[in-house]
Amino acid sequence: MRPLIVGNWKMNGARESAIKMACELADAASGLACDLVICPPFTLLYPLALALDGTALAVGAQDCHQAAAGAFTGDVAAPMVAETGATHVILGHSERRQYHGETDAMVRAKVETAVRAGLIPIVCVGESAAERHAGHETEVVGAQLAHSLPDNFAGVVAYEPIWAIGTGLVPTVEDVTAMHDFMRAQLLARFGAGAAQRPLLYGGSVKASNAGQLLAVANVNGALVGGASLVASEFLAIAQAATQ
Ligand code: PGA
Repeated sequence: MRPLIVGNWKMNGARESAIKMACELADAASGLACDLVICPPFTLLYPLALALDGTALAVGAQDCHQAAAGAFTGDVAAPMVAETGATHVILGHSERRQYHGETDAMVRAKVETAVRAGLIPIVCVGESAAERHAGHETEVVGAQLAHSLPDNFAGVVAYEPIWAIGTGLVPTVEDVTAMHDFMRAQLLARFGAGAAQRPLLYGGSVKASNAGQLLAVANVNGALVGGASLVASEFLAIAQAATQ
């Protein structure tokens, strides 16, 4: 499977420097044997999609509303995201679950709306530190998969242990292997043989220095990168590690 490397810019980025960096990434992307996506804030989706039109670098959003339109002040609907030229959308990120009260049921509804709008959903799951210490990580992730993914799901799943996000901490290769094998088995059992082709990303403190070992894990098909995606050379080094 062709590796998929996704940059989650979170609430960072100003237009001029973002376009400059995106063009730099796009120049390098055409020579890489992996798919690259950057997910800037909503306000930068259209200018970046416009600047990157026809290049090998795709653009995605970090969220969308579960309704296709309506009286939801401040929200952005999936068809609006698609209209900017974006192709992907991150859904159910732990920061959305934590700070915006997103539940599995909401994430599932968002995935359905996003797919209807023609977007590729990147659905995030992952346990807290307390849940891992209690040995409940597979139970937690299993429940998130069961309830956040709609029937006929054909998108991307990202495993992001909450305690690894932005902390510099990463699970051991053994723990990543165990979780990704578990997730693959869950998807195969529910969605059938086609689930073998669904990219499973690892996310949480991925850097150029640890990308090689994380991306070498059999059921890790790419990475969801936060902080390190804000520096072009670091993000490209992670993408290069994915193709080795
Ligand atoms: P990080 O964030 O790479 O900065 O840990 C990952 C994410 O939140 O997607």
